[in-house]
Amino acid sequence: MSTTLYIITGASRGMGEAIATQLLSSPEHCVIGISRGQSAALTEAARISGAELEQWPHDLAEPLSAAKALQAWLEALPPGRFSSATLINNAGVVPMPGPVDDTSLEELSAALRVGLEATLLLSSAFLRATAQLGNQRRILNISSGLGRRAMAGSAAYCAAKAGMDNLSRAMALDEAAKPAGATVVSLAPGVIDTDMQTQLRAGDPAKFPDQAQFVNFKTSGQLQSPPDAARKVLAYLARADFGRITLADLRDPV
Ligand SMILES: NC(=O)c1ccc[n+]([C@@H]2O[C@H](COP(=O)([O-])OP(=O)(O)OC[C@H]3O[C@@H](n4cnc5c(N)ncnc54)[C@H](OP(=O)(O)O)[C@@H]3O)[C@@H](O)[C@H]2O)c1
Repeated sequence: MSTTLYIITGASRGMGEAIATQLLSSPEHCVIGISRGQSAALTEAARISGAELEQWPHDLAEPLSAAKALQAWLEALPPGRFSSATLINNAGVVPMPGPVDDTSLEELSAALRVGLEATLLLSSAFLRATAQLGNQRRILNISSGLGRRAMAGSAAYCAAKAGMDNLSRAMALDEAAKPAGATVVSLAPGVIDTDMQTQLRAGDPAKFPDQAQFVNFKTSGQLQSPPDAARKVLAYLARADFGRITLADLRDPV
């Protein structure tokens, strides 16, 4: 049986948990989740299907140790252990909405380090330690429309996602220049009913002019459920032309 490896950050809740749960429905998948917390739902999904699951507890606000651990783990695998490998950089942080001078230094740092630095370091470790899999490798970075347009009260999040987008474009160029490079996509998933949206709705309108729009997403039923969003993300990941467009949006016409 050929096993496919998926490494996904932020798999403990929200859309990442839904993506990991769906991946775990196949016994031919091995899923490594990286978050601070653990998900009992993932453990149960793996038990039912027989898929392999590891949940690694790492704080991606300190991403160096997680990237080193990933690289060491990948380098210790026996040759041929996996037929293909995918890294999904999904973990993200929205600080409490407000201007940067009204947000703590710790929150600003965590938003950039989880959203951008961890994506960079994990991608580097992944690409280096899986080179033998050639073009059987994909990196899917979960971005946001806010990487492509600015919104008041969310500068650190906008910066992390804009950085993720251009990081993806530059890595895609590097990989395309290799004889059998990986493919890289930065995908905006649309709005999803998770803790992140709860935090945005809880913002103070005096510091966050778009707060009412986020309330409206919820009350008018515009939020996707995490399983629905996960299904669309995984359908995108499975596309034969994955990587043809580096900056993608699930809301784009196919
Ligand atoms: N929800 C939306 O409407 C929306 C819209 C556009 C883009 N996105 C993007 O979609 C992705 C998933 O978002 P979501 O809505 O599912 O978010 P969420 O419900 O807030 O979940 C965030 C995930 O990231 C992990 N995470 C946060 N801080 C971490 C840290 N310091 N170290 C390790 N892991 C950390 C969390 O795990 P732990 O807390 O267990 O560490 C959790 O699993 C994010 O990249 C987000 O920017 C979401």
